[in-house]
Amino acid sequence: MGKLDGRVVVITGAARGQGEQEARLFAAEGARVLLGDVLDERGAAVAKDIGEDRARYVRLDVSREEDWAAAVATAKEAFGGSVDGLVNNAGILRFNELTATPLAEFQQVVQVNQVGAFLGIKAVAPEIEAAGGGTIVNTSSYTGLTGMAYVGAYAATKAAILGLTRVAALELAAKNIRVNAMCPGAVDTPMANPGLLDPAGPTAESRDAMAELYRRVVPMGRVGRPEEIARLALFLTSEDSSYITGQPFVIDGGWMAGVSIL
Ligand SMILES: NC(=O)c1ccc[n+]([C@@H]2O[C@H](COP(=O)([O-])OP(=O)(O)OC[C@H]3O[C@@H](n4cnc5c(N)ncnc54)[C@H](O)[C@@H]3O)[C@@H](O)[C@H]2O)c1
Repeated sequence: MGKLDGRVVVITGAARGQGEQEARLFAAEGARVLLGDVLDERGAAVAKDIGEDRARYVRLDVSREEDWAAAVATAKEAFGGSVDGLVNNAGILRFNELTATPLAEFQQVVQVNQVGAFLGIKAVAPEIEAAGGGTIVNTSSYTGLTGMAYVGAYAATKAAILGLTRVAALELAAKNIRVNAMCPGAVDTPMANPGLLDPAGPTAESRDAMAELYRRVVPMGRVGRPEEIARLALFLTSEDSSYITGQPFVIDGGWMAGVSIL
């Protein structure tokens, strides 16, 4: 028996990184998953690899309300008429000093990370209610809880996601919908490690530099793996977390615990 038997879950940004691992793990635990992304070729390939009976891909730009309506319709049509889970995972990161950040860049990050999560809740929560209840997991970040220089737009949206999570949890609890947020530290995906996008993989030099960075700043001495974040998403989507709602969950190898001087 899987932890998500009978569940139908929409996962955004599922073509790669954490979203891909969430889709693979959820399907392995018995869920049927709708993978949404803007990377069509890659998303379709992941869904195909998981299997037609368990996974479908749909183009879902989370910042477009009409895409959400179409995605929900696709999930219902493909998987028996209802949806009872959502993982708002899609996100983008831009590095810039705040005072040098162009307005358009700031707004783009807000549009994807923050408006995208809002639209997801708005489109999917009524479906979860109609299904009798379920779960929403939002993806915030370490930077939603503490500062990090040069990621001002990103950090602002990740803090906003925690606000959204709390309000959604309060408003949806009576409808049997739990809403929680994950706050990952550094995770080894193309967002934190663009070298992964190179078919040959990151250069030895960049691998060494990153390993040294994480050894210094993360108490556990290493970067997180997307599979580890997927396991937290599974916990928050399954009955294992049945009495938890409205909470941020830090998953960061101890980074947030404090400063080590040794
Ligand atoms: N990697 C990290 O260190 C880290 C740390 C904390 C939080 N996060 C968060 O985790 C989530 C997943 O990121 P990841 O690490 O897997 O990075 P990633 O860049 O590998 O994956 C992000 C996915 O989101 C998709 N996406 C981007 N814009 C989209 C849009 N408008 N609509 C739909 N999909 C879109 C991308 O195509 C990609 O598949 C993000 O919300 C990110 O902010 C990542």
